[in-house]
Formats: sequence, C-alpha cells, structure tokens
Amino acid sequence: MKVLGFESSCDETGVALVEFNEGQGSAPRLLADALHSQIAMHQAYGGVVPELASRDHIRRVIPLTREVLVRANATLADVDVIAYTQGPGLAGALLVGAGVAASLAAALGKPTMAVHHLEGHLLSPFLSSDPPEFPFVALLVSGGHTQLMRVDEVGSYELLGETIDDAAGEAFDKSAKLLGLPYPGGPHLAKLAESGNPEAFALPRPLMHSGKPDFSFAGLKTAVLTQVKKLGDAPTEQQRADLAASTQAAIVEVLLKKSLMALKGSGLKRLVVAGGVGANKKLREQLNAACAKRSIRVHYPELSLCTDNGAMIAMAAALRLQRGIAAPAPSGGGFEVRPRWALGAIS
Ligand code: KG4
Ligand code: ZN
Repeated sequence: MKVLGFESSCDETGVALVEFNEGQGSAPRLLADALHSQIAMHQAYGGVVPELASRDHIRRVIPLTREVLVRANATLADVDVIAYTQGPGLAGALLVGAGVAASLAAALGKPTMAVHHLEGHLLSPFLSSDPPEFPFVALLVSGGHTQLMRVDEVGSYELLGETIDDAAGEAFDKSAKLLGLPYPGGPHLAKLAESGNPEAFALPRPLMHSGKPDFSFAGLKTAVLTQVKKLGDAPTEQQRADLAASTQAAIVEVLLKKSLMALKGSGLKRLVVAGGVGANKKLREQLNAACAKRSIRVHYPELSLCTDNGAMIAMAAALRLQRGIAAPAPSGGGFEVRPRWALGAIS
C-alpha cells in the first residue's frame, strides 16, 4: 500500500510517498519526500503572514507532488490512500492541502485520510534509523506547541502536561526577535548562543517548581526584553551572545527538568523528542546526558524531519492504516479542516 501525504499547516509545503505492508511485520518505508519552506518569503514581515502562506502552498503543492512521484519512480495510479494534515494550523493554509488531497482522491477514486499535525511530529522518529518502541514519553516542542504526552501505541495519547501560555519555539522566536535576529529565530539564537556565556544573565525559569510537568514561557520573553533595554542601543556582540546563551539555557533547563519529571511519574524509560525545537543542539546534549545517567533511551527524528514535512504525515497515516485503527474516508466525501484540534481528541 502506498500513502501520498500532504502537509500545509503553516509555512512549509511538504509532500511524501510512504509504502507499507499490511500486518505489522515490517515498518513503513519512506519512498520519497519533497519540501518547500516559505521562511525566506515571511522573513521580511518578521513572522508568518497567513494569506501569503496559503497562496504559496497553492503554487508549490503540485510541482512538489510531481517531484515526489518522479523520485519514487511511481505514478498517481500507484497511490492507494491520500493523507493530509487536517489540523491544527492556519485555516487557509490547511485548506490548500486538504482541498488538493480531496480533489486528487475524487479524480482517482481513492480514499483520503485526515492526519493530526502533532501526531505526525510524534511519530516522525519512526522514519529514523533508530525507531522507538512503545510505550514512551513524548516531548513535543514546536513553534505552536509544548506538550508532554504518554504514548502507549499509535493513536493512544495521554496529555501529561503542556504550556499555559507561549510554546518553547515561540519563546525562542520572540527572544530572537528582541535580539534583532531574523525569523524564525530559534536556529539563529542557537547559533549566536554558541559564543555566549549561559550564566551571564539570570533569567526566570517559570513553573520550574510547580511539581507538575507544565510550562510557562511568556515571562521569559518579558525578562529578555528588560535585559535588551538595559543593554541600550549598541550592545556588544559578546553581550548579545551572552543573552542568547542565557535565554537558551533557561528554555532548555525547563524542558529537561519537566521531561525527567514526566518520565519519573510514568515510570517509563523511553523518551521521544519531536517538533522543530527538537533540532536544538543544547537540548539534545543535555537530554542525552541526563537520560544516559538514568538508563533512559532518547529518540529523535532525523534533523531534517524535526520541522514540518510531508513524510511525517504520510508516515502517521501509514502507521494508523497498518494497525487498522483508522479507516480512510471514501473519495468524494468532501473535507473539513480543524485549525484548533487537541491531540487527545483524536480517535
Ligand atoms: O515544528 P515546527 O517546524 O513548526 C510548528 O509546527 O510550529 O517548529 C518550528 C519552531 C520554530 O519556533 C523554530 O524557531 C524552532 O522550531 N526551531 C528551533 C531550532 N530549529 C527550529 N529552536 C531552537 N533551536 C533550533 N535549532
Ligand atoms: Zn509542526
């Protein structure tokens, strides 16, 4: 069975083809994927402009689909199911992927399958050379979400804790903006932090002692703003690097402590880290060191699959179909998107 997957929830257009055998004997395989990032287009505005994002998805999605089919040496006739990100995300952007999936399905007489974007991130380590085994704790850290989940099986997700305000990626991006770095700031802030002292500035670690695996990052951005103002109009390169390193250290320390808390509380010895912030080197270093001490295995998606992509959407659909936990929708059945959609609400 071959699944063609579309991702268009935010500022990346992703298309991929995944193949799987019925029955759980072998893991689904990625045949080809193609991605177009809109980062350069949104950079001029300092963030994602939803209307521009939707229009660009329209321009990119068909050429990317052609590219995937050529690379996989396949044709549309070989596709059995067409999967798409149904939510959460930007409504107009989601509608492009969902609309293209539904139209292709109707034209080909093939079924569609709606996928939850965060389930895609959560299952993305199954595309790596070192896939996890169930059950595990998942730390989902992206631009829009920061959650700790207990995952017992594909489709069985229990929310252990989440952010009460900003997401970790948002904390990186907003702090980076205050430091004058381009959008999206996470990777730029991480780069600047390499030459900085993480102890130079004392920044808050909100909810660190709440006793629960929850997060709050809004106060950190305010603290960074206060420091930026104190540094005045002409901070030195070293001062900026020190502030970047201190910001990163605050975010990473909270993510680390809360992940360990969730692991301890659940009694599980396996952690999966997914979402864009999962690409952060300091976070990986510290999680690896702390987990090694506690005999906990940590799994990450491939670096290129940490941020949004089509492969994770096709993979999530394939894993669901392979396990028979979701039936695809017949073609011609229309489609809907869910811009707001809690992962715990999927069935
Ligand atoms: O998962 P993702 O591509 O999109 C969402 O679903 O939100 O995550 C994007 C987020 C952005 O906030 C970006 O700044 C952050 O991931 N990010 C990073 C790094 N790479 C991406 N944050 C810190 N360090 C990085 N190396
Ligand atoms: Zn994402």
